[in-house]
Amino acid sequence: MDRDVEKKLSEKAAEVEEILKENLPKEDGYADEVVSAINYSLLAGGKRLRPVMMLEAFRLFAGEDADISVVKPFATALEMIHTYSLVHDDLPAMDNDEYRRGRKTTHAVYGAGMATLAGDGLLNLAFETAISGAIRGKELVYYDGDCSNRYLEALSILGKKAGIKGMVGGQCADIMAENASGVPEDKMKDILHYIDENKTGALIECSLMIGALLAGAGKKEVDLMEKAGSNVGIAFQIQDDILDITSTQEELGKPIGSDEKNNKSTYVSLYGMDNAKAKVKELSEEAEAILQELGFGDSFLAGLFEYLIYRKK
Ligand code: IPE
Ligand code: IPE
Ligand code: MG
Ligand code: MG
Ligand code: MG
Repeated sequence: MDRDVEKKLSEKAAEVEEILKENLPKEDGYADEVVSAINYSLLAGGKRLRPVMMLEAFRLFAGEDADISVVKPFATALEMIHTYSLVHDDLPAMDNDEYRRGRKTTHAVYGAGMATLAGDGLLNLAFETAISGAIRGKELVYYDGDCSNRYLEALSILGKKAGIKGMVGGQCADIMAENASGVPEDKMKDILHYIDENKTGALIECSLMIGALLAGAGKKEVDLMEKAGSNVGIAFQIQDDILDITSTQEELGKPIGSDEKNNKSTYVSLYGMDNAKAKVKELSEEAEAILQELGFGDSFLAGLFEYLIYRKK
């Protein structure tokens, strides 16, 4: 366990925490209940990995001391989307879990209706925040991708990676695979890859891509960051599935045994525990190799990818 990475990560998570607080909605008027549920979910204290990764990707391409005001609204937006995905994931109609981030889930406190609306509200708030950042942000240099405007490209990535070709699509396949019977093993493995790549990989790809894009990276570099994000994102989900079996609720802040309870197909259930652990390492090292190819082999981000292989929460 690399103590240095751990310490830096907690400093960087605290930085994200401050950024999030700058954008919290006010709990007033007749919609105060949904705003209260939103703030309860957002401030519950997650690891903040996706915004941390976005800020780090930005600093790699823009320089350690670069002004981060351009990327802050997008980092906030991504954590809002991730948080909404968790609020909905925990609902009785989905994984039906009672604890998240060390406290009662949003629906357990506010009811399923209000938790559904809190998720919807967070998704809109994410785009309100990112769009407002794009409107107010300083002018950025031309981008050599499909869209030459870096802000519009970043908004497009955010929408796609969170949507039906990303997180929502992965969550759809995850539900469809519950209690799956009669599906040939090869097809099930293919479906599992789709699930992990999309329900979890997509938002991590989004994080690294937008960080690089807003910092001035070229299309080729953004594509490489997408690939690194995919590898590290799939590894992250496999590790999540491992911890669902080997960890404790105290350590994770959420219940263990959730996957077995819901008859989920996971890397561990299809390939076994040892293969799962080996895969986390292999994919994380592939992601590190991509950073190395980009000249960032010695960065905090590379250290973080390595650290996540051994994460306990
Ligand atoms: C949990 O994500 C859901 C998965 C995609 C595995 P995190 O483990 O990043 O959750 P928080 O944000 O720290 O609570
Ligand atoms: C969910 O995967 C990933 C999301 C997109 C929310 P899990 O259902 O395994 O996440 P946890 O274990 O509840 O955090
Ligand atoms: Mg789930
Ligand atoms: Mg779940
Ligand atoms: Mg899980």
